[in-house]
Amino acid sequence: MAMEQKRVFATCNIGDAALEKLRTMGYALEVYEQEGAPPREVLLDKVRSGVDGLVTTVRDQVDEELFRLGATTLKVVGQYAVGYDNIDRKAANRHKIPFTNTADVLTDATAEFAFFIMGAAARRLYPSEELVRTLQWRSWHPWKPFLGDEVTGKCAAVVGTGRIGKAFAQKCAGFDMDLLCFDPQKDERFVSSMQEVFDLKLARGLTRRRNTIEYVDLDEALARADFVSLHVPLNQATRHLIGRSAFHRMRQSSYLINTSRGPVVDEAALYEALKEGWIAGAALDVYEEEPLPDDSPLRDPTLTGRLRLFHHFGSGTRETRLSPDPDQGMAGRCVQGVIDVLEGNYGRDPKRMPFVVNKEAF
Ligand code: GLV
Repeated sequence: MAMEQKRVFATCNIGDAALEKLRTMGYALEVYEQEGAPPREVLLDKVRSGVDGLVTTVRDQVDEELFRLGATTLKVVGQYAVGYDNIDRKAANRHKIPFTNTADVLTDATAEFAFFIMGAAARRLYPSEELVRTLQWRSWHPWKPFLGDEVTGKCAAVVGTGRIGKAFAQKCAGFDMDLLCFDPQKDERFVSSMQEVFDLKLARGLTRRRNTIEYVDLDEALARADFVSLHVPLNQATRHLIGRSAFHRMRQSSYLINTSRGPVVDEAALYEALKEGWIAGAALDVYEEEPLPDDSPLRDPTLTGRLRLFHHFGSGTRETRLSPDPDQGMAGRCVQGVIDVLEGNYGRDPKRMPFVVNKEAF
């Protein structure tokens, strides 16, 4: 009897090079080609129609209802992101459906983005360019109309020392910054290795001052840092981790950087903190609601000089987003995760498949 052709529905075009790999496997691939996410009913209908695999993004709600509809047919969900707060892990486990993510391949892209937007906020790159573009730059002056804050040699709090937090810390180290790490799961080896590098730089005369890196509790990190950069996943413990009391702990001269997930920050509190001058500024790549609503208070023009806003762009490099190589690109890693499950690679054991997240269900 001829084998049924496997069907995959991609809720987004993640790039032809990677999608071609699914076609080459002989799968019937359907791609939702609109720029926005498919309406919920479209997604549920596809699952109801019996697709074997889904390619999803952070825009899709992958929950109990979806898993129940696919309980006997859906074999895998390939999430095109490292974060998977849009996927109900318990529901996936109840139905024993593996889902995959794209960890590792976006680590440096996201970490460098966090570093760059930190610099953009501190050095006021946007107001400077705006001055030139709007014909308001009429004379050179030592400090008018504004100055920025230097990044080199300052202190950064790294909230969350997973892959991206550690990569961010390494980039900060290149700028001779002191580092305050916060994470309930400490990586002491990382911290001691970084300290060795700092010490070697001092010993070889490459720095004038001994830089330090240490784990501290969150309150201390917030109180001492010049820059607070968030690198935590979104879950119950991290929702609104940074709210009014956190902003009160931060220094008036400090900046908040968020490239993790929007709801980690209480946006109403952030607005208040910026408006009232509790902190110097912020740079955000993620929001409580995405895309940022047209009437968001964060669009307040009086905040423009101190608040940088980006369009969830942290991993947005050509290499990282589109490469079909599973060791280079999110697209490649996402389709490989789907292929591993549908082809029964690794002895059909999801626990052994490198990109499956919910290994505990198998
Ligand atoms: C992007 O936000 C991701 O989680 O990969």
